[in-house]
Amino acid sequence: GGAHTPRKHDSAHKHVTGSADYIDDMAEPAGTLHGYLGLAERAHARITAIDLDPVRAAKGVVAVLTAVDVPGSLDISSNGSGDEPMFATETALFHGQPVFAVVAETRELARRAAKKAVISYEDLPHVTDVRAAMEAEYPLVTEPLKLERGDIEAGLAAAPRRLKGEMRIGGQDHFYLEGHIALAIPGEDDEVTVWSSTQHPSEVQHIVAHALGTVSNAVTVQVRRMGGGFGGKETQSNLFAAIAAIAAKKLNRAVKIRPDRDDDMIITGKRHDFLVEYDIGFDDNGVIHAVDASFAARCGFSSDLSGPVTDRALFHADNCYFYKDVRLVSKPMMTNTVSNTAFRGFGGPQGMLGGERMIEEIAYALGRDPLEIRKANFYGQGDDPEGRNLTPYHQKVEDNIIGRIVEDLEASSDYQARRAEIIEFNRNSPVIRRGIALTPVKFGISFTATWFNQAGALVHVYQDGSIHLNHGGTEMGQGLNTKVAQVLAEEFQVDLDTIRITATTTGKVPNTSATAASSGTDLNGMAAANAAQQIKTRLVAFASEKFNIPEDQVAFEPNHVRVGNELLPFGDFIKLAYQARIQLSAAGFYKTPDIHWNRATGKGRPFYYYAYGAAVSEVSIDTLTGEYQVDRVDVLHDAGKSLNPALDIGQIEGAFVQGMGWLTTEELWWDDKGRLRTHAPSTYKIPLASDRPKIFNVKLAEWAENREPTIRRSKAVGEPPFMLPISVLEALGMAVASIADYQVSPRLDAPATPERVLMAVERLKAMV
Ligand code: MTE
Ligand code: MOS
Repeated sequence: GGAHTPRKHDSAHKHVTGSADYIDDMAEPAGTLHGYLGLAERAHARITAIDLDPVRAAKGVVAVLTAVDVPGSLDISSNGSGDEPMFATETALFHGQPVFAVVAETRELARRAAKKAVISYEDLPHVTDVRAAMEAEYPLVTEPLKLERGDIEAGLAAAPRRLKGEMRIGGQDHFYLEGHIALAIPGEDDEVTVWSSTQHPSEVQHIVAHALGTVSNAVTVQVRRMGGGFGGKETQSNLFAAIAAIAAKKLNRAVKIRPDRDDDMIITGKRHDFLVEYDIGFDDNGVIHAVDASFAARCGFSSDLSGPVTDRALFHADNCYFYKDVRLVSKPMMTNTVSNTAFRGFGGPQGMLGGERMIEEIAYALGRDPLEIRKANFYGQGDDPEGRNLTPYHQKVEDNIIGRIVEDLEASSDYQARRAEIIEFNRNSPVIRRGIALTPVKFGISFTATWFNQAGALVHVYQDGSIHLNHGGTEMGQGLNTKVAQVLAEEFQVDLDTIRITATTTGKVPNTSATAASSGTDLNGMAAANAAQQIKTRLVAFASEKFNIPEDQVAFEPNHVRVGNELLPFGDFIKLAYQARIQLSAAGFYKTPDIHWNRATGKGRPFYYYAYGAAVSEVSIDTLTGEYQVDRVDVLHDAGKSLNPALDIGQIEGAFVQGMGWLTTEELWWDDKGRLRTHAPSTYKIPLASDRPKIFNVKLAEWAENREPTIRRSKAVGEPPFMLPISVLEALGMAVASIADYQVSPRLDAPATPERVLMAVERLKAMV
């Protein structure tokens, strides 16, 4: 039952039968009240008056809260920048910014009452998109980053060919199935317990303590599981938890807050939209000599995670390619929109897509298959004598396996023959056109904020041999608990069902990091192994003494412990250890070695290792309507020595479809008043079951192994596969480009909605 076996998610049966408990399924404490938020209805305006009397007078209302009711700090910014007030006071900075909260006897009454507020505004000029923000010289929400190596001006000037362009990349709503929710239960004195749907319980604890004007030891934050987070619950849970806690303490009753889907989409941050501008120098073989590119992002009204997100865009703008002379700059633009936040890949996907667009442009300029251009630019391997393994941030790529991944996939998917067949098909097909593309992924693993790369775990072995495990990570469907339990089962050599993982709580494992950056298993798996090893060390010493044998004659075997020639059932052995007063509990700890990063110089080794993968996607488009379908996808992905191939393949499939949605159908649209108009599934289109690739072959690179000593040589898998569907966008581009005999770069922006595909088709038709 241990590591490297395909075990099902420990809650899979509960997920599909509806018996998994989410916060809204928990039994409510007697007298629970319900909160709802009242929102600003201007994109940018001075608030001249707030009349909440009609709200107070509404049926069932118990209390109304505004900024003056916050006992501690009004700021809920995750980075302590002070730029994110819980409630707007003098100025509304985006359409949908919370201004007040109402607490009522039922959720429905609170929701109705919230609509009765009369707020007066004096409008100020607003901008909602990146280009407008740059033109209006809007401020940056945080310090930009510059990564630079070599002499970019000389490199560009000396390159035989040069090309400039830009790409717009849309944002994305997380669309977790369980929306944001918090349930605060008041305790004695200043104490409060908050159940929060969060990826970051320690931060919620910290924010709640600040909001209440108390200290962290008064606040306990718990989360059993989330119905998806995808980065949307890394910082965005703070708001709901803080307001629920303030109301609960003020009224001395439990308070629950759960916005409906529309409000969740309006109030909480999303993936950043980007505008990428590039100037590239290359030669007739498609080898890139120089890249000068900027990555401007729609950050929204506050900084939130926009600094690290735009940083990660730069860290991935090279993807798998060596740029000899390079300058990459970020422009984290303030806009009058909701403050954008983490989303699977954390800016990496946008950066990587910019890099892949450059490859595509070179390919069309030279009339070659983009795959040839990719191969010509791959990073070198090992200690490359020409130094073609140095990233723009001066980290050496030491574990490069992209060449082998791409070679294997190219062969197994029959890429070359299919591409030839598709080109032949397009020659004779008046309406339907097809495209195929193979794109690679290299994704850096570790938090770029080095101190986040630590984790703790608490393991208790009870007298009957059953094991209780708690770790600092949170379960959001990705299977973290299952993987960490497998690690523990392997350590003790017991069956997986011997181990119970309980709700994550700040009271058991303190000072945790967000479960994010795909590092959940790497960090918490190691911490759990460390705790188990501490207990095992004590058990071995005990057995050696008790049975008078050398320590190396004590071994953990399946559900038993061998002491000399005797085999004791695990439970019996544990009972003996307990009676001998051996401590059967341990707190484990882990920190990632060998990483460092200096943001000021743009140099370091921010990533412990890279995860790799590649996908071949084939699509067909209808050139009269712009509609399309994904006909076939083949994926080969590197999860190192996979801890659980079943869960890893599930992560790859899910990430692929989610990434496909980002690049094709999911479109966020703000109107000229700064209102988000796509705030429900009626207008915001996530992929349907029927949109999944008609043929979908997902394989792990079975030969892969992490060269770093990660937990059982596995690799993180949560985010890297999200970027595999860049191949879908490029395949759509190829189908469009067939209109002009592949002579013109299709320059499809993302998302490539059917409308955008049709417009590209029309543009190319006009050119031939
Ligand atoms: N998978 C599911 N089912 N639900 C999620 O919310 N979040 C993704 C990924 N896979 C997510 C998911 C994101 S954004 C990250 S960072 C990782 O899971 C976090 O978990 P891990 O570090 O344990 O991989
Ligand atoms: Mo994932 S965006 O790091 O939560």
